[in-house]
Amino acid sequence: MCGIVGYIGEQQAYPILIKGLHRLEYRGYDSAGISLINDKGDLSVYKAKGKVSMLEESVKEKDVTGTIGIAHTRWATHGEPNAVNAHPHYSQSKNLALVHNGIIENYKSLRAEMEKNGMTFCSDTDTEVLVQLVEYMQNSHKCDLYTAVQLALKNVIGAYAIAILEKSKPDQLVCARKGSPLIIGVGKSDNGRAEFYLGSDATPIVEYTNQVIYLKDEEIAIMDRRGRLDITNLSNVKQTPQLVTIQMNLDQLEKGGFPHFMLKEIWEQPNALRTCIRGRLNVTDKDVLLSGIIDHKEKFLKCRRIIICACGTSWHSALIGKYFIEEAAQIPVEVEYASEFRYRNPVIYPDDIVIAVSQSGETADTLAAIQLAKSKGAFLYGICNVIGSSIARATDSGTYLHVGPEIGVASTKAFTGQVITLALLGLAIAKEKKTLSDEMFHMLVDEFQMIPDKMQWTLEHNKGIDKFAQMFTYCKNFIYLGRGYNYPVALEGALKLKEISYIHAEGYPAAEMKHGPIALIDEEMPVVVIAPKRGMYEKVVSNIQEIKSRKGKIISVVTQHDTVVKGMSDYTFVIPDTRDCFVPLLAVIPLQLLSYYVAIAKGRNVDQPRNLAKSVTVE
Ligand code: M6R
Repeated sequence: MCGIVGYIGEQQAYPILIKGLHRLEYRGYDSAGISLINDKGDLSVYKAKGKVSMLEESVKEKDVTGTIGIAHTRWATHGEPNAVNAHPHYSQSKNLALVHNGIIENYKSLRAEMEKNGMTFCSDTDTEVLVQLVEYMQNSHKCDLYTAVQLALKNVIGAYAIAILEKSKPDQLVCARKGSPLIIGVGKSDNGRAEFYLGSDATPIVEYTNQVIYLKDEEIAIMDRRGRLDITNLSNVKQTPQLVTIQMNLDQLEKGGFPHFMLKEIWEQPNALRTCIRGRLNVTDKDVLLSGIIDHKEKFLKCRRIIICACGTSWHSALIGKYFIEEAAQIPVEVEYASEFRYRNPVIYPDDIVIAVSQSGETADTLAAIQLAKSKGAFLYGICNVIGSSIARATDSGTYLHVGPEIGVASTKAFTGQVITLALLGLAIAKEKKTLSDEMFHMLVDEFQMIPDKMQWTLEHNKGIDKFAQMFTYCKNFIYLGRGYNYPVALEGALKLKEISYIHAEGYPAAEMKHGPIALIDEEMPVVVIAPKRGMYEKVVSNIQEIKSRKGKIISVVTQHDTVVKGMSDYTFVIPDTRDCFVPLLAVIPLQLLSYYVAIAKGRNVDQPRNLAKSVTVE
């Protein structure tokens, strides 16, 4: 949530900052702002409500020169989204400008204290309190900016990633983090002089350098053009920065000819999943190799229970993971909403393994949930997409999805990547525990290998969804039904529709309908049923019958060549046949496409739906 970009070096900062803001816009898009120090030493702040393009428009006639700057794209927490509350915020003297991602929980008491001392505030934000506090510390302790930031942050309760400029020191950039991510890119300009970049993630940095430092919690950094990079903690103890080489392809950050990132990411799934299983699934030797398990084999052999903590789409994939792990590895699995788990007093045994599933690896609730589990002695396993993310670093072991950056706010390829990774995990544990017969294990490995091709088939054979989706734009509600492995798919289909088209949708286990929700069915209600010719097919057919007799409109996901459900449906999407446990990976594709095309037909901004942000770094 919220994106921060920063630059200090020899180049003009403005184009780097604006490009970076565009790359980070998926993290928040209700307002944006930029601050620069020009060659004359003027510290400017420009802000605009709305997207980054509005900011660009608003500065057309302004001086945007300068080789140092910070910028921000906002997802509002404190104060409504408008230009006043947008970042950067000036301090009272306008000598400092600061951008912030996170929440300062004690901002009210800090503000009241400073107001008593005669300071005045322009905005409703917690961020303005922070920049004022830094200036207050500078004045009252007669200290430099770095020390003032340390002093200020010691008084702060909450989460932050900050970058700060000082008008009278145009040669230095100061930043800090706790709880919200911040990355420093270390580069060299054409003449070999040092330059530094800042980003909430690597996407605004990779174009210029692949050498980065992941700032750790409670670390403060100062950078200058002479190549100085000093990092200390809040107690001023020097820290040794660890330079990491990141591998990210710029094409992954572009739409590549697709109108939206979401559509690109839906179509990327077959290849993304090939990358995800490469080196991990060995079809020739019929083997599954996950280093995260191999390195901690004993833990998994002794484990008597797995708890998976996640939010949103990741929670849905975790539910599928539960079914798979329980079936294959015979270990009980509990799936928890991280936001609930973190505030309970959960019982955790020493032989429990707690798995965090998170695309971004930065979701505040999931991070807090595993920190709680760690404090109770649990072994932590992370399943993340973003390399070097907070959750990936906080866990004892883990597996990356390797599906490439996901930019669309509605998660698609990360969902299927998570399901695949959890299935690999289930198979790897089953192998160690010998809970599957060789025959079954080999059969699953063989089928697993075919899934990317079957996904491609599914994409190719459901191309008419765009036209069909037009018919449903008038709908106010949708119901999604599935059983077994497909119940979480129903939840995921409903979430996708809600978040990008703003149509109310609910997912249910199909058999639960008769316990209440069936009362909602009439001729106005579209019901999406996942009805593959596997497992509980006959029972799902009966469920469809019950809906049809109440005049509900049936949209079904059926196995190729199915005639029975097709005959009962108003519209069908087809998927190739596969084993029950892999159906979610295929069945979710038409549901992703359905939500995408309904949202497009309704004129929604699918990559940046209202009120949402890609990574939820506040609770
Ligand atoms: O980055 P995470 O996987 O931890 O994010 C969890 C949810 O915020 C996320 O899945 C959200 O529900 C998506 N917008 C769904 O499309």
